[in-house]
Amino acid sequence: MPVNSIHIPTYPYYINGDWLESRSGQTIDIYSPYLNEVIGKVQAITKDEVDEAIISARIAQRDWAIRPLQERAQYLYRWADELVASKDEIAATIMKEVGKTLKDAYKEVTRTAEFIQYTVEEALHMHGESMRGDSFPGCSKSKVAITDRVPLGVVLAISPFNYPVNLSAAKIAPALISGNTVIFKPATQGTISGLKMIEALHRSGLPKGLVNLVTGRGSEIGDYLVEHDSIDMISFTGGTSTGINIAKKSVMIPLVLELGGKDPGIVCEDANLFESAKQIISGAFSYSGQRCTAIKRVLAHENIADNLVQILKEETVNLSVGSPKDESMIVPLIDHQSADFVQGLIDDALEKGATLVTGNKRSKNLIYPTLLDNVTMDMDVAIEEPFGPVLPILRVKSDQEAIDIANQSEYGLQASVFTNDINRAFRISNNIEAGTVQINGRTERGPDHFPFIGIKKSGIGSQGIRRSIESMTREKVTVLNLAE
Ligand code: NAP
Ligand code: G3H
Repeated sequence: MPVNSIHIPTYPYYINGDWLESRSGQTIDIYSPYLNEVIGKVQAITKDEVDEAIISARIAQRDWAIRPLQERAQYLYRWADELVASKDEIAATIMKEVGKTLKDAYKEVTRTAEFIQYTVEEALHMHGESMRGDSFPGCSKSKVAITDRVPLGVVLAISPFNYPVNLSAAKIAPALISGNTVIFKPATQGTISGLKMIEALHRSGLPKGLVNLVTGRGSEIGDYLVEHDSIDMISFTGGTSTGINIAKKSVMIPLVLELGGKDPGIVCEDANLFESAKQIISGAFSYSGQRCTAIKRVLAHENIADNLVQILKEETVNLSVGSPKDESMIVPLIDHQSADFVQGLIDDALEKGATLVTGNKRSKNLIYPTLLDNVTMDMDVAIEEPFGPVLPILRVKSDQEAIDIANQSEYGLQASVFTNDINRAFRISNNIEAGTVQINGRTERGPDHFPFIGIKKSGIGSQGIRRSIESMTREKVTVLNLAE
């Protein structure tokens, strides 16, 4: 719904059911990472407009919270249907805006519709509990506690660029179904995709004020949103430094933070090397490694390392590199600054003695898939999250050394263990500090009803459909004191 679509469309923000231009008169240019041109302008809204959005969310929440669950469910089902109906437009927008292939962009839209449907079904089947008093010593059975879940109020949903639709809906749907209203702050690069998703929600007939889309740079309005005393809960997905800032700024409200990672792929001597390499390559290089769950380092047992590196090399040199329009696996990174960062990691590793297996080629913000062998812990690439297509390989002498290196990271999102020995897999898994350990599979978030947890600097709290609903509600106890 562009305000002005003569050449470059200018997109509105959305509060209280209205599509508006900011009184700031300021817009932000959105550059496509692969077209290298401005594809749209989004509103840079003012703090007063943020206040207006939050007031409308707070007012709307009172009525929404008391609507029957089945009624709330119907709006969300219609939202899912509207997303599917407009998937061509939304997928094309995702591709243009964040440089994901059209196939992956379609997958993101479909996955989002399925996520919303599952969220509704989960909520419909969640029930409270009751407890008898007399199970506690000296207490009468005339006391009965009824525990139910109630919404928190106004949820602030802040999402990252890399899944601009899915990771936004993954906050909005559980918030809405459980009776909350939402202030949605998309990543600036991702705003147009988020807005298309909200257009679909608007078409579902959702009552006004329930979801408000506030647009503008996090550096301008982020702290103001996070510190706002009318926000009751924050659900954030993004980088660790932004997450830490949010944790410091927010006061006495529940927080769920999904942050960065440095997921290791541990390859034991007894692993099926071809299958492991396939999983590692897909895990490390899909969407150029711009996934929180990308495999970001390989810890290979020294006895199989030469063979593994050879297989990984053969797979890597065959990866398609180019434009998302051509369904390339390796696509330009979201911006030039990100490409500079990844290039810096490669340069640092090579200066410190890493072996270049393949890659280290760059064209603007397109970084060719790069494999580095003999990486050591003094190299930045062994420690930092690159969010790009570079994969360091560290050789280890034992499972214990792999575990030690894996745990030296400040992150703890996921890890993969490749072995044919299930006891060994569990031994390693039990000692890895991560939210999830995948055995003989790549690190990944889905299926979306599984719990998704980051520990250490990878996050706080748990996501996954049921967990997300729980995180946006609190228990409320009513005690019946019956006549004896
Ligand atoms: P980011 O730079 O941290 O931005 C994330 C969101 O935070 C954006 O909406 C951003 O807005 C906003 N923001 C910026 N400053 C803020 C502030 N002071 N207060 C409140 N919000 C603020 O992350 P990104 O580059 O979009 O995404 C990449 C990172 O996200 C990677 O580290 C990746 O691992 C992580 N990630 C984690 C998960 C997970 O589930 N664990 C999933 C996906 C991504 P602007 O865009 O306007 O700056
Ligand atoms: O970037 C973070 C996403 O949550 C990862 O999802 O593992 O399905 O790509 P994915």
